[in-house]
Amino acid sequence: MSFNPFADFSMEGHVALITGGAQNIGEAIARTFAGAGANVLIADLNGDKAIETARNIQQQTGSKIFGMKCDVTKAEDIKACVDKAVEHFGGLSTLVNNVGWGQANPDPIAVSDDDMIASYRLNTLSALRMVEAAAPYLRQAKNASITNSGSMVGLLPAFDFLAYSSAKAALNHMMLGLAHSFAKSVRINTVVIGTVLTEGYAAAGLDAKTQERLTNPDNLTGRSGTPQDVANTFLWLASPAGSWVSGQTIQVAGGPKRVRLIPED
Ligand SMILES: NC(=O)c1ccc[n+]([C@@H]2O[C@H](COP(=O)([O-])OP(=O)(O)OC[C@H]3O[C@@H](n4cnc5c(N)ncnc54)[C@H](O)[C@@H]3O)[C@@H](O)[C@H]2O)c1
Repeated sequence: MSFNPFADFSMEGHVALITGGAQNIGEAIARTFAGAGANVLIADLNGDKAIETARNIQQQTGSKIFGMKCDVTKAEDIKACVDKAVEHFGGLSTLVNNVGWGQANPDPIAVSDDDMIASYRLNTLSALRMVEAAAPYLRQAKNASITNSGSMVGLLPAFDFLAYSSAKAALNHMMLGLAHSFAKSVRINTVVIGTVLTEGYAAAGLDAKTQERLTNPDNLTGRSGTPQDVANTFLWLASPAGSWVSGQTIQVAGGPKRVRLIPED
């Protein structure tokens, strides 16, 4: 009998709820989990697209997967999608807090209170409320995990993205705290994502120079990422292969540079 190292990456027997899974990074995570054998619920503000994406993924993978409308900033929607996953699949083992978005703030001190609060509500608070709703089920599941979509701008301050970057920084910190509070029952990690060219990124309001810099990034791998680059790490963290990893923020960002060349312009 031969040893199969991929067996630990199987998601058989897992039930995953993925927020913002109708497109791009969330969609790739949903497809990857389903391809590895998980049952998946895609919860997305765009309900029609969530349903369509779920249908496509089910055809591609054969796993049971469905999509529904859910606004993760609304308590009643959060409860409805957690209830749906449990009712449909008999439990919940895996939560992916993938929803997030940020707009450029060219003048940082001009960012309004409303924009700061809205960014925190979408990128940070929604994940806490998802954890709260999912916790009773996760605590009962085998190899339970929560994995979050963080951002490089939540690690390295981005003054031209003040509202988004500070909300993503808060997400890292909050999840680290929660990982300690859930110790021994639910593993919690955050994937700190670099530039992936998606619609969300395109709508962020970047100027042409920044677009060019991010499209041709000066990182160790010399390229921007694909949704699949990111989804592969989510699979590692959520599957039994990641069962000894918790309380981490893991950069999947093409290898951001850590040395400074001198002279440099
Ligand atoms: N794309 C990048 O370069 C990049 C870089 C760093 C971090 N990230 C993070 O990765 C995650 C996914 O990014 P993406 O580029 O795939 O995003 P995207 O904008 O392409 O997709 C986000 C999905 O979330 C859904 N959504 C938005 N608001 C919602 C809400 N209130 N409730 C439920 N669903 C909602 C949208 O309908 C969409 O389907 C985000 O958290 C983002 O901040 C992305």
